[in-house]
Amino acid sequence: MHKLQCNTNQIGKQYIWLDKTDSTNEVIKRLLLDGQTIEGEAGKVSKMIVGSIHHGLTVLADHQTKGKGRIGREWIDEVGTNIAMSVLLQPGLGAESISMVTLVSALAVAKTIKEKTGLEPQIKWPNDVLIGGRKVCGILTELEIGAGHYCVIVGIGINVNQTYMPEEIADIATSLINESEELLPLDREAIAASVLENLEAYYDKFCLTGNMSELMYEYNALLINRNLNVRVMDPSESIEGIARGIDDMGRLLVETPDGEWHHIFAGEVSVRGVYGYV
Ligand code: BTN
Repeated sequence: MHKLQCNTNQIGKQYIWLDKTDSTNEVIKRLLLDGQTIEGEAGKVSKMIVGSIHHGLTVLADHQTKGKGRIGREWIDEVGTNIAMSVLLQPGLGAESISMVTLVSALAVAKTIKEKTGLEPQIKWPNDVLIGGRKVCGILTELEIGAGHYCVIVGIGINVNQTYMPEEIADIATSLINESEELLPLDREAIAASVLENLEAYYDKFCLTGNMSELMYEYNALLINRNLNVRVMDPSESIEGIARGIDDMGRLLVETPDGEWHHIFAGEVSVRGVYGYV
């Protein structure tokens, strides 16, 4: 039985930790649709009544069979070793603020990694947290629009105790255990609780303005792409230039060789280094 002890007001106070499900983001979507039941698949948690659904509801799973990444990619986990969790946020924010929730969440994960492991995380805009240039965490933020309201689902995947990385991702992915000197398994409950605590603190700060003005300096200090050549790809075009940091709307500023500055929205774009992953 997993226990989450979050020192928060709302985020993570109501949580469900499933043995196995398709995707924790999808669990929250189903909860929003059909009221208050959760279908788990492992037998131990087959059906749970969670009462009314609140801002901050968190769903975690030891294994996702259809974990989702950004831009239609898959997110594959190793059973029982990592963190897969989704948090429901019911913001009183304008829709233009939603993409910034990903950036806010990345800051929370980076802070937890630093606090819990002493490692030096960096952020690859908009949603990856890296250690030593390799990804330990990905974030998928989805907007759910209902009758007269909308919510945000933040899905966070952190490679915690996974020691084996498949060959095809070994160059670009890592885990907390593989990066830490002791090579001892880390406490997933404590890490998840800390992320939720940091998320609440950053999210409250973010909600004061509805933009990144209070957080952009901290974010830019961790931005691995800063002053590096990047290629920004979206479904319609690709531009290359030097990433200069984010602005107060969370857009990546890219200076192209003609001296023009482009403001890139997170949306469906992917950013790569011109010569590699970063
Ligand atoms: C990415 O890097 O492309 C985003 C990965 C997001 C993975 C997390 S794991 C918890 C939540 N449930 C999902 O299906 N995806 C997110």
